[in-house]
Amino acid sequence: MSADSVAPDPVHDPTYDTVLVVDFGAQYAQLIARRVREARVYSEIVPHTITADELRERNPAGVIFSGGPKSVHVEGAPTIDPAVYDAGVPVLGICYGAQLVAQQLGGVVSRTGRGEYGRAELAVVGDGGVLLGRDLPVHQSVWMSHFDSISQPPEGFAVTASTPEAPVAALEDTSRRIMGVQFHPEVVHTPHGQEVLERFLFDVCGCRPTWTMSSVIETSVATIRDQVAGGRAICGLSGGVDSAVAAALVHKAIGPQLTCVFVDTGLLRAGEAEQVTETFRRTQGIELIHVRAADRFFERLEGVTEPEEKRKAIGELFIRIFEDAAGGIEDARFLVQGTLYPDVIESGTSAADTIKSHHNVGGLPDDMDFELVEPLRPLFKDEVRRVGEELGLPEEIVWRQPFPGPGLGVRIIGEVTPDKVAILQAADAIVREELHRAGLDREIWQAFAVLPDIRTVGVMGDERTYARPIIIRAVTSEDAMTADWARLPHDLLERMSNRIIGEVAGVNRVAYDITSKPPGTIEWE
Ligand code: XMP
Repeated sequence: MSADSVAPDPVHDPTYDTVLVVDFGAQYAQLIARRVREARVYSEIVPHTITADELRERNPAGVIFSGGPKSVHVEGAPTIDPAVYDAGVPVLGICYGAQLVAQQLGGVVSRTGRGEYGRAELAVVGDGGVLLGRDLPVHQSVWMSHFDSISQPPEGFAVTASTPEAPVAALEDTSRRIMGVQFHPEVVHTPHGQEVLERFLFDVCGCRPTWTMSSVIETSVATIRDQVAGGRAICGLSGGVDSAVAAALVHKAIGPQLTCVFVDTGLLRAGEAEQVTETFRRTQGIELIHVRAADRFFERLEGVTEPEEKRKAIGELFIRIFEDAAGGIEDARFLVQGTLYPDVIESGTSAADTIKSHHNVGGLPDDMDFELVEPLRPLFKDEVRRVGEELGLPEEIVWRQPFPGPGLGVRIIGEVTPDKVAILQAADAIVREELHRAGLDREIWQAFAVLPDIRTVGVMGDERTYARPIIIRAVTSEDAMTADWARLPHDLLERMSNRIIGEVAGVNRVAYDITSKPPGTIEWE
């Protein structure tokens, strides 16, 4: 694929002020960026190796240093080009970031032997300065996670708050607009944290709160028009949120120059194919090619039982069918993809092992000769959902749970057949319906049914049965990297179980999966 992907570039768009979050290895760097965006200021994450020149080039309104797992005293601890402090850009250091500011500018960071983890009582010192003064409470609860402490601020800095274990819990040099907080304003356990961040953004950096989803739509529509000009674009729809929002956004920009391709693998959830075609063709008025390919998938999956082989088989066939359909669209030169900001960050840094070979519409091969259009590249998932709502996509699509590219194929253990898919679709629909009725949709990351490759004995009426069990899997998660099994109410599980056994022929038992991730994965294959 020719890699010249063009996404809206908010950094150089004069509509938005940009705050850069420098990542020192914190688990919270993404969270900081999201909090900044909640304040309607665009933010991006950059590595700590960024030089002062590179930083200046991006013309940020402010810079936030994240926390990090290291001590500033260990060899190889991440630092930043000290010329950054002379770039005339406001700096806020958080936790490790604050300690780094103190150390690099001539203060003292000590190993006191007494760390602080969890809730701490913060007391304002003096007038509390810009970040903690005025109408914020003199005592407030904050979230701490540090071992070293700043014991002496650099010259020119005022100490504006302390805790029992951190004499310098906040410090400011208002003339240079450099400041630091030892606590974590980005986490919910710091109740006034968002206000502290907003004071930095608005009072110190002078940012404008213009990062709204409607302005994002406007900017990205203009960028897409620029990129595609009079050309034709195609977009593979998977039924998931990302490809749906990307398609709707591109359609808003170029209308009939966009054609969507929806490959119905026969491995979708009950009613999903109808919902996708209905939404896009009728409601959004998008030109849609609906390829009904269930037979080809079932034929290809005959006798395939090994999970990776199954994933590869589904992925390859999907691509072949997509290519065939795309080949029929004359002069299509642009391919729309729903790549999100976390994918962008991850592909820059991740060296994680491949646990499963993921297949999705985004996994199309390199040798397809398209220029990519990726309008969601700067966005987090919650922003994508808000853009989708604003574009008028229905709630069932915008708030849909994540669904794997290989579909029900990886939720049927062993060989995939049409009969098994029918059983699983029926059971899965009940799980989702009951979850929705219980009002738990948005609390649960994913809830679905799995069909294992075994039979068990039961008794129904007066008869012995020898039929299939269904396993219910429901998890809570922030990002699918880790997950916990959901503590669903017992009466809800009971309703699911009764209905599945009563309504789905061929099922005589229901089990609930109580494995977190790790050690399990969310999907069963
Ligand atoms: P696992 O099973 O690895 O899944 O814990 C993590 C998340 O990814 C989804 N998933 C996929 N998504 N293509 C996708 O687009 C895939 O091949 C795929 N496999 C798993 C899964 O549903 C969960 O949300």
